[in-house]
Amino acid sequence: MKHKVLLIGLGQVAMGYDFDTTDPGVMSTHARAFANHEDFELAGGVDPDAGACARFRQRYGGWAGADMAEGLRTLSPDVVVVASPTQYHAEAVQMALRHAKPKLILCEKPLSYSLEDARAMVAACREAGCLLYVNYLRRVEPGVLEVKRRLQSGTIATPLKGVLWYTKGLLHNGSHFSNLLEFWLGPVEKFSVINAGRPFGEADFEPDVQVKFAAGEVTFLAAREEHFSHHEIQLVAPNGCLRYEQGGGKILWQGAARDPDFPEYTVLSLPGERIATEGAKLQWHVTDHVSACLRGQSSSLCSGDDALRTLKSLLEMKAAL
Ligand SMILES: NC(=O)c1ccc[n+]([C@@H]2O[C@H](COP(=O)([O-])OP(=O)(O)OC[C@H]3O[C@@H](n4cnc5c(N)ncnc54)[C@H](O)[C@@H]3O)[C@@H](O)[C@H]2O)c1
Repeated sequence: MKHKVLLIGLGQVAMGYDFDTTDPGVMSTHARAFANHEDFELAGGVDPDAGACARFRQRYGGWAGADMAEGLRTLSPDVVVVASPTQYHAEAVQMALRHAKPKLILCEKPLSYSLEDARAMVAACREAGCLLYVNYLRRVEPGVLEVKRRLQSGTIATPLKGVLWYTKGLLHNGSHFSNLLEFWLGPVEKFSVINAGRPFGEADFEPDVQVKFAAGEVTFLAAREEHFSHHEIQLVAPNGCLRYEQGGGKILWQGAARDPDFPEYTVLSLPGERIATEGAKLQWHVTDHVSACLRGQSSSLCSGDDALRTLKSLLEMKAAL
């Protein structure tokens, strides 16, 4: 039997990004990914915007409306996707648990702007026996998983030293990469703020920070979204260099090798090895992992506890500015 899915919030990441895309290989929203996965039925959506509800009904069918409690009670979903603006995530999670009995909630990142609310969300899901995952979607991308395997096997040696460039706030876009670095390099052990940077929107901030993870140190540097989006990680290992570029669209490994012309030097090999990525279908991979979680299988999806750890370290950075 298919798992019934209710989307809370019908904006860009829920439905908008690929709404006008005709390429069936592109799946960058929850709606398209769940609608195309055989294990799920996309049953409905909640949004205060009547136009968003109309677009949902026209494209995907099913129930759509502004009343969250009504949507939850009418559909009794197995899976609730919380894709409303961040300040409303906590309310949506609590409403989902109050008015339905979902088996799994997939919440957009960051969990919340408030550590207290985020802790309450994780605790409430645990108490209700509802699985909670957070959509730090890079953790299920095949190229990212290949890097993780190489780090675990020592093919990419540690300790690493690196740089992360991010734009659009440390809690929002920066948290994707902080969470990814925790996935690769282990927990944040300590940090020091290099430059407080500027506030970004009402709740976010853009510092430059030196961060020590279990397996290496990374300098987070804020670029400016108004100039261009920039999300890039370069990790220098004892045996080579990993470049995670274009927000993850391109991953390149260059092993250290003897210089063919000057054998007394060791250099980075050229042109390097492209590690295959599947960015266009990223949200579909998330959906597939949700299905695996519902079958009790292991998954690299970000758990509520992992997302809480990411949020805690980022809010500690904010407090230190
Ligand atoms: N994982 C990712 O890669 C990714 C990408 C983009 C956004 N996000 C996150 O997803 C969330 C939504 O971002 P977006 O860019 O889609 O925003 P958006 O502004 O495009 O969409 C938000 C939608 O939620 C609706 N809404 C507002 N208040 C609501 C409420 N109380 N209940 C239900 N719906 C409500 C709005 O009408 C709007 O349609 C944010 O938390 C953001 O950080 C994650």
